[in-house]
Amino acid sequence: MSDKDRILIFDTTMRDGEQSPGASMTHAEKLDLADILETMGVDIIEAGFPASSQGDFDAVSEIARRSKSSVITGLSRATEKDIERCGDAVRHAARPRIHTFISTSPVHMKHKLQMGPNAVLEAVGRSVSYARNLVEDVEWSAEDATRTEFDFLCKCIDAAITSGATTINVPDTVGYTHPDEYGALIRALRETIPNSDKVVWSTHCHNDLGLAVANSIAGVQNGARQIECTINGLGERAGNAALEEIVMAFKVRGDTLPFETGVDSTRLARASQMVSRITGFPVQYNKAIVGKNAFAHESGIHQDGMLKNTETYEIMKPEDVGVSKSSLVMGKLSGRNAFRDKLKMLGYELDAESLNEAFRRFKDLADRKKHVFDDDILALVDDQLSAMGERVAFRSLRVIAGSQGPQTADLTVMVDGEERTGSSEGNGPVDAVFNTIRKIVSHEAKLDLFQVHAVTGGTDAQAEVSVRLKGEGIMAVGRASDPDTLVASAKAYIHALNKLEARRLKSLAA
Ligand code: KIV
Ligand code: ZN
Repeated sequence: MSDKDRILIFDTTMRDGEQSPGASMTHAEKLDLADILETMGVDIIEAGFPASSQGDFDAVSEIARRSKSSVITGLSRATEKDIERCGDAVRHAARPRIHTFISTSPVHMKHKLQMGPNAVLEAVGRSVSYARNLVEDVEWSAEDATRTEFDFLCKCIDAAITSGATTINVPDTVGYTHPDEYGALIRALRETIPNSDKVVWSTHCHNDLGLAVANSIAGVQNGARQIECTINGLGERAGNAALEEIVMAFKVRGDTLPFETGVDSTRLARASQMVSRITGFPVQYNKAIVGKNAFAHESGIHQDGMLKNTETYEIMKPEDVGVSKSSLVMGKLSGRNAFRDKLKMLGYELDAESLNEAFRRFKDLADRKKHVFDDDILALVDDQLSAMGERVAFRSLRVIAGSQGPQTADLTVMVDGEERTGSSEGNGPVDAVFNTIRKIVSHEAKLDLFQVHAVTGGTDAQAEVSVRLKGEGIMAVGRASDPDTLVASAKAYIHALNKLEARRLKSLAA
């Protein structure tokens, strides 16, 4: 038996995370992410905001149906309509929860809700009672709790507990507080409010001052037992507390932080890569735990120390977070079985057909690139999986580039199984490629983001390109990789276009 207190990890990547501008996810991407979160041992998955759109409702419902061990929840405002919608969406989960909230700070009540304190207090009791009639497990949040007047916050939380809330969440909605202050608030609330020991206390800290993880930990040190967080710290504005940082802080510093989570830390790197791929938000190179440089040692003194003993400069092992010690993998002589084992180690189990295709792509890459690294394989398989079943498919590209213009692109794609070819000039080769796609597949969407980075080191590295398109109020991110930057750019644009079209059709149907 462990003598450490168990902290519940509540992931809100698909709700608060998806609220960050440009970070939308498709239905299929949400299902994949939910699978990863559940497999890695996340206790509670907030899968969306069911009343906000049909898409969110569908995603929460399907994630609920497929769930096995994690609690599945959705967010709802303090109205019967929202709560009912949320109840309907989570109903089929093995462990359903309704999460309802209302703002309690003077500035939010006055300007956002245009409600007085008495009306808010009354709404707290009414909404929680209503939710409790639908499910046993109800979480209540006081939005902007850290800027709420203490006595009023106590009254609201008391009303929520009396009405049947089982978890009380104390959000630092605007990332304003600091660790001592936040810890003291959690302690004071627990000491003041009757029956505070009958509920689980939860933190939900935003990162506007870069203090989200520190504040969450301070909350735990003062009695909170649930932390709301997101993969890569995704979330509104500067984001939320990063799940991977919290999990590893408890794991590495168990000596002074006697807490543990149920998360399998060896899956953190994979989850981070997946969220980055889905959203098109790159992970900062020096990001704690999952950044590319988190385990890189460049200076001679550091390298020398590492060779003598890794503990000189590493407080955790790369393998602890799912980064393999040696990421140098196979070359063109590697066999199918070794490739399948590698995929398994990287967290993929493909069916026979997908495995054959992935192996073919791998051989193709190994022919062009001397060393194939884990990151190359991840990019290759992600690319393949995201392009499956798309309406527009890349076939071939020839580009004239260089200082003697005009730069020109000749492109062939398949649209609904029919071959289309076109050619355009542009202000540079990428512009020429995108102009050609616009010519062959007519669409109104505008380019919102174009981003390139190298998957690994070396001049033969694959380029990974993200393209964000925006049209008719809908946004989609496409991503692709290839040793040729222009091919990767064309594929990423086409991927974004396919996603945008799928999203447009879905919203029309809704
Ligand atoms: O930041 C916040 O206050 C929230 C609540 C709705 C939980 O996201
Ligand atoms: Zn939030």
